[in-house]
Amino acid sequence: MVQPLDFLYPSSFFITTMSLVGFLSISFFGVLEILGIHLQYSKLWNANSRRIKVSSTAGMLLLYAPACLFGFASFWIFPENNFRSLLVASALTIHFFKRVLEILFVHKYSGGMVLDSGILISLSYTLSTATMIYIQHLVQGSMEPSIDLKYPGILLFLVGIYGNFYHHLLLSRLRRKDEKGYKIPRGGLFHLVICPHYLFEIIGFIGVSFISQTLYASSFTLGTTVYLIGRSYATRKWYLSKFENFPREVKALVPYIF
Ligand SMILES: NC(=O)c1ccc[n+]([C@@H]2O[C@H](COP(=O)([O-])OP(=O)(O)OC[C@H]3O[C@@H](n4cnc5c(N)ncnc54)[C@H](OP(=O)(O)O)[C@@H]3O)[C@@H](O)[C@H]2O)c1
Repeated sequence: MVQPLDFLYPSSFFITTMSLVGFLSISFFGVLEILGIHLQYSKLWNANSRRIKVSSTAGMLLLYAPACLFGFASFWIFPENNFRSLLVASALTIHFFKRVLEILFVHKYSGGMVLDSGILISLSYTLSTATMIYIQHLVQGSMEPSIDLKYPGILLFLVGIYGNFYHHLLLSRLRRKDEKGYKIPRGGLFHLVICPHYLFEIIGFIGVSFISQTLYASSFTLGTTVYLIGRSYATRKWYLSKFENFPREVKALVPYIF
């Protein structure tokens, strides 16, 4: 029988606690999305909110740039990392650096972000990234999992990055320069699900968990999945309310299922 230790590094009390806290805190926001309480960015933000607001571009850079910088800094902070740890740090840095480049050169935003939502998400990304890289450093030298998932993990990560980027490009092509309205997205997997970019993000993070093989990376991916389930559910509901001709067979996140 396959035991968790066959594919996970052994977990200390610290790692187990951080994993539980990480999972519960991220998935909590997914449950809130389903209940109609949204983090205030993109189409689900409330433009009339009296809280402090920033432009989407500034807000999104606040979300992703600190985690990206920590990713780059980690190569200097942990110079003696082994191959797996270098892969984990590289995957996270590539993920956040790609997001920064997309914010600057791909996305066409129409609205803004409420600053407190931005600070909360930014803290969550930065702390999760730092914790994942630190825990990978901690487990170096302990017993290696007997099943090595590094290489399937790299493949999944690359599929996730590519699919996510491709659907971001399709979204960006829905608007001409300075256009602000929303249209029903087409192309790629948009005829099956309204958030294919979220689906590929999850695939990418499953890849990171496979590369990492720590309990923390798996629980972070699980928490992110719960959050994106909630956000995609709310997004589909938003499309149904805004577009009379929105095709009901288009699911939220998983083709034919959800
Ligand atoms: N790891 C995590 O916890 C997490 C959480 C959230 C998001 N993400 C990732 O971050 C990426 C972006 O997420 P997001 O929630 O910001 O995506 P999003 O709401 O779909 O927006 C992405 C871009 O597409 C535009 N857009 C969306 N729908 C459109 C439509 N119908 N017509 C025209 N333009 C449209 C948006 O403009 P507007 O800004 O004007 O709406 C924005 O510029 C995704 O890949 C997602 O996986 C990760």
